[in-house]
Amino acid sequence: MAEQPQATNNIGTDRPVQIVPSVLPADFARLGDECAALEAAGVDRIQWDVMDGRFVPNLTFGPDVIAACRSRVKVPFEAHLMIEEPDVLIPRFIEAGCELIIVHAETTRHLHKTLAAVRDAGAQAAVALNPATPIEAALPILDLVEMVLVMTVNPGFGGQSFITSMLPRVAALRAHIVDAGLDIDIEVDGGINTGTIASAHQAGANVLVAGSALFKDPEGLEHAVSELRSLATP
Ligand code: DX5
Repeated sequence: MAEQPQATNNIGTDRPVQIVPSVLPADFARLGDECAALEAAGVDRIQWDVMDGRFVPNLTFGPDVIAACRSRVKVPFEAHLMIEEPDVLIPRFIEAGCELIIVHAETTRHLHKTLAAVRDAGAQAAVALNPATPIEAALPILDLVEMVLVMTVNPGFGGQSFITSMLPRVAALRAHIVDAGLDIDIEVDGGINTGTIASAHQAGANVLVAGSALFKDPEGLEHAVSELRSLATP
């Protein structure tokens, strides 16, 4: 196995490991079938990478595409909103069947208000931090979220390399959450594969998003999910 990058301030986590596929590399002509295959492969939930071509230089899918796939599977959906002014569309993503809404701290002037509105609408809320956004940006709103997503690539595309300097950030955030006695997951997204997942988990991430590593496994989705899960589970 490739040398795993390490953080020095790891405290790890005993929170349940969740393997969450990004559907970014999926066959967009068969998204319903792809969701069904992911569920059959044993994923814990499905992440929809929503991109608007403004916050990130890519454009993907809106709420109607997600709604079209909702009835194909039972696993929860999470919407990773890489979109400017998310407040406008958040109700549509909840209506489409997303149980968890991930809001980038960089996309709204009133993050506390936006996350509170997600919870008031009956969904779970999470905040995402780009690689250059201090983790301190999440601290004032930890009481509103189930999860913090620490991006391990710059958002916009799949297949990028894991940014190893994010590991100490994950570890520092996990330490803060533990010290504060909070019940919060940490998710990482970007470049998660057999060579990086163990380090991400040791740093304190328990929700691990993978796109390329799942869809490009020559032995198939089920093999990829179980291999990643076993590497993340000490
Ligand atoms: C970036 C996307 C990707 C995707 C996963 O905006 O969020 O991180 O989900 O990409 P892989 O697993 O292929 O790096």
